[in-house]
Amino acid sequence: MRLLLVLDNQEVRELMSFQLSSRFALEVQELPNFDDAASFLEGEDNAGLSQITELLIAPYNGKANELTEYLQSRVKPLPTIFYYEGEVPPADVLKGLLTLGLLEKQQIVEGSARLLEDYLSKNGEYADPNDFCPIHTSLLMRTTPLKSDIYIKLSKNKFVKLFHSGAEFDQSDLERYYKVKKIEFMYLKRSETAEFMGKFSKELDLLLSKEEITIQEAAETMMLTQEMIQELVHRVGFSAEVQELARKNVALTIKAIGTSPKLLTIISQIHAGANYIAQHSSLLAYVGCCLAKEMSWGSDSTFSKLVIAAYMHDISLTNPKLAKINSLAELNQLKDQFTEQEVKSYHLHPLKSADVVKSFQEIPADVDIIVSHHHERPNGTGFPRGLQHNYIAPLAAVFIVAHDLSQAILNKRESFNLASFIVEAKQNYTLGNFKKVVSALEKIKFE
Ligand SMILES: [Fe+2]
Ligand SMILES: [Fe+2]
Repeated sequence: MRLLLVLDNQEVRELMSFQLSSRFALEVQELPNFDDAASFLEGEDNAGLSQITELLIAPYNGKANELTEYLQSRVKPLPTIFYYEGEVPPADVLKGLLTLGLLEKQQIVEGSARLLEDYLSKNGEYADPNDFCPIHTSLLMRTTPLKSDIYIKLSKNKFVKLFHSGAEFDQSDLERYYKVKKIEFMYLKRSETAEFMGKFSKELDLLLSKEEITIQEAAETMMLTQEMIQELVHRVGFSAEVQELARKNVALTIKAIGTSPKLLTIISQIHAGANYIAQHSSLLAYVGCCLAKEMSWGSDSTFSKLVIAAYMHDISLTNPKLAKINSLAELNQLKDQFTEQEVKSYHLHPLKSADVVKSFQEIPADVDIIVSHHHERPNGTGFPRGLQHNYIAPLAAVFIVAHDLSQAILNKRESFNLASFIVEAKQNYTLGNFKKVVSALEKIKFE
């Protein structure tokens, strides 16, 4: 971890550099001139060194200077200790900067050591990433104020508290980080997610209480909420609170799909800010209902089975890239991109996801079967069980074809062509129920 120390007095600088590096295992980079600080840090950014300086001690030289402007503009805030000579700077001038403290120059040696010790020991530095749950900043913004601490991630194992519990921050503070600094995710300790979940659940209620909701209005919430649910399942388990959010997201999706879903409507609504699993699952929910409708299976209960299955089918995967893979042969070709654990878990993910479904209270029957069959193929070449078509449940057959269709849409986006998809599907799906599904596919209107 590198600290940049900007101080003109050589003797004090060398003393501090020695003390801080030995006491905190930091690499200290010294800089005598304040004027060089911004260009030094910008140089790191430009050299693609991904901002290796993670802490800064620098003089506070007024509001309008290059360093302050640079710090304001950084994507990842740089935790900084400022010192000053003479008059104390007014309290509001450091707003928007991640300031660890403001010291009088004479206090800099002891003061910095104290502030760094505080920061490094109490702020979750070197924490286990599994202890932190990522929440999309745009969702977090809807639940302010929160009593919990809010963290940002500095690197894989390093998190720093951005807002302390009870600290006064409002939606505009979060908006500044989201829109100006482009911090997409903030983190809550997994032990402190209950308050957020409760408040977010009420936000979903508000949407659900609307008489009507279009897919355009719901798409972003549906996808980002799904992404968050997936993270929560891995961090806190499929608890009653997480199930409640999942149930409401399903209700929101069903409401937005309506009674006559149109394939073309969803394509322009894929939310680019959501990860692949969330995009793919929401799209699959929609596409599955389009297809069921054409099979004259457009009942509420079928729609709800398909939507729940879509949201749950890949819930046990941890790496979104794995959801792009459709067969064990494909996995084998790409296995170098994944850890051994990820490769292993992929083989059984339909069954593991089905297990999560079984713990989901008050949902319709058979959803776990659809989920456990989602990578089976009619000719027995699928996994994990290699079932023949006559052992694959009829609604699972719809789901499997819809799964292919949603993959094709996501891969091709605007250039997706339904007619060529159908030509290929006719070759792949010639057996039993699958043949019927492909006939229904031909009835889908793509306009
Ligand atoms: Fe899958
Ligand atoms: Fe999938």
